[in-house]
Parts: sequence; C-alpha cells; structure tokens
Amino acid sequence: MSTTHKPRIAILISGRGSNMEALIQAIAQGSIDANIVLVAANRPNAKGLLTAKHAQIPTAVIDHTQFEQRTQFDAALAECVATAQPDLVILAGFMRILSAAFVDQFEGRLMNIHPSLLPKYPGLHTHQRALDQGDAFGGATVHYVTNELDGGPPIIQGRVAILPGDTAAALQSRVLQIEHQIYPLAAQWHLQGRLSLAGSNVLLDGVALPESGYAWNPSQC
Ligand code: GRF
Repeated sequence: MSTTHKPRIAILISGRGSNMEALIQAIAQGSIDANIVLVAANRPNAKGLLTAKHAQIPTAVIDHTQFEQRTQFDAALAECVATAQPDLVILAGFMRILSAAFVDQFEGRLMNIHPSLLPKYPGLHTHQRALDQGDAFGGATVHYVTNELDGGPPIIQGRVAILPGDTAAALQSRVLQIEHQIYPLAAQWHLQGRLSLAGSNVLLDGVALPESGYAWNPSQC
C-alpha cells in the first residue's frame, strides 16, 4: 500500500528523545498510522538525532547558538518544519521557548508534553517541586501549545503516586514511563481527527474534556 497519504508528523527535540522513540515504536507497532517526516533538533549533539537516523527518519539541526536573535532562530525552524508539511508538530523535550510567530503558524497542530500535572508546576524542576509540596501524585500532561508557557489546553494527563522516600530522579523515571504511553495516544487521537480545539477547551469525539485533560488510566488503553 502506498504511504503517500499517511498523516505526517514532525518532531522537535533537544536531547535524549525517549518520547520521540515511543512515537517511532507506536508507528512500528501499528498503533499510530502516520509517517514521521522530520526530526529537528536545536542542538547538534542531541542524542535523539542518532535514534532518528537509525530509524531512517530525515533529520535537521537548527542550532540556536548560530542565531543572534530568538526570532531569527524561530523563523529558520518554522521554515524547516513547514517544508515537511506536517499534520502534527510534536515537541518532545524541546528546550526552547517558541515565539508567538512560530506558535501561531502551527497552532492547533502543535503539541507538547510537560512532566507535571498541569496547571501545577509549569517550567522546570517539576518533580522536585511536587515532592517539596508534599503532593500525593506526580505525572505528565500532553497539551496543545499556545503562547502561554506550558499553559495550552490539556489533552491527556497521566498520574503516578508519590511514594514515601521518593526522590526527584525516581519520580521522573516513573513519570517518563507514563509519558511514553500518553504522548502516542494523544498523537493518534489528533491524527484520527478525534480532537478539536474550541476556545480553551479540547473536545474528544465532540465532547469537552475536563480542564486537566483526559484522565489516563493504564488499564483502559
Ligand atoms: C520529558 O520529561 C518531557 O516531559 C519534557 O522533557 C523530557 C524529554 O525527555 N518536556 P525525552 O527527550 O523525550 O527523553
């Protein structure tokens, strides 16, 4: 069968790329029907680039240190991504804040994963902050990207219990396993046309999701 008309995914990374790898695996296993047409990194030494090359996915490096201004970097990145004609642009550990022009260009098809139960703990050091607050749960949220940092409408959220004596590293590792489940699921929903944005709400199959997104339960999926 021709793969010409499969939905097209572009993935932006800065480092390890384990979420990217989870998406590659989900496609290989047939749970997402799509092609990854581009993996772009802002760091030439991003480890995930090697994984992508190994999977024979086209890669690009747009090194942010080579640009004097953020807007110039974002314009070069936007051009690279637009050339790939993606139906979905996935930020997977992409550690640059994107300017409004970039977000506006891809809005509605631009997703991010954040390692906290948003709206709690936007920004960095999310696991340590959850521990410091004595939270009962940590987790991760897949959300559409808007111009509010880590503030776009949540699509799906997965949580894990915080255990007595937990460390940020231990919690991070358990949350990462959840990330690898929920990001492919969100991508699949988007590419199947099951998600839509209605103002600040996300609809799944026409029904508004809770403010924190679909509450993922491992036994359901
Ligand atoms: C993940 O924890 C993700 O939630 C955050 O950055 C990390 C990326 O990890 N946005 P990886 O590069 O996908 O392994």
